Amino acid sequence: MRYKAVIFDLDGVICHTDKYHYLAWKQVADELGIYFDEEINNRLRGVSRMESFEIILERYEGVMSGEEKLRYTVEKNEVYKKLLKNMSPEDLPAEVKETLDALRERGLKLAIGSSSKNAGFILERLGLGGYFDAVSDGNNITNSKPDPEVFVKAAQFVGEKPEDCLVVEDAKAGLEAAIAGGMECAAVGDAVLSGLATWNLNTFSELREVVE
Ligand code: BG6
Ligand code: MG
Repeated sequence: MRYKAVIFDLDGVICHTDKYHYLAWKQVADELGIYFDEEINNRLRGVSRMESFEIILERYEGVMSGEEKLRYTVEKNEVYKKLLKNMSPEDLPAEVKETLDALRERGLKLAIGSSSKNAGFILERLGLGGYFDAVSDGNNITNSKPDPEVFVKAAQFVGEKPEDCLVVEDAKAGLEAAIAGGMECAAVGDAVLSGLATWNLNTFSELREVVE
């Protein structure tokens, strides 16, 4: 086997929370009179909550204090968490679950490496609470992707060396983080266009061939 562990990004890889991030940020942006669209939302992939808000504020005319920034990010998260309650195990694609089970059967350790502080909550909603061997997320890191910290910690949590881990990502910042951490990576979705990944996947189930 080429790898001993696979570390999955969560948002955009295991599930699709982008639409909820978009709706929640849109509400805050509208309140502040800031232009915000799907294209700007795409730039927020893999980026921490506060860094996402800084990107949104690039189009803000005024000056905002640190305290106000905190208040708006808290508000965004409250809206986002309400939307996440709509999620259920039905939002976990069968192809994803079948592939995860197949990788586990082959003896691979499976971990999450996500910038989100809501990762535990999302996994519960999807019926994956307790499924992964380790969860490294926004709660155990100080530097967000493209810093490798979240993946380096995930590798430590499962007790494997970086060179024995494969990272699966939908964001360029995530691929950069994996590479900076000394790990090979597989891109899904738009991340394929970056040309940074070791593997470019058309479908999630192609992972079965990649780990051979
Ligand atoms: C990442 C998302 O997984 O988590 C980003 O791709 C998001 O868009 C980041 O900003 C932080 O999420 P949260 O849930 O902690 O606000
Ligand atoms: Mg992602």
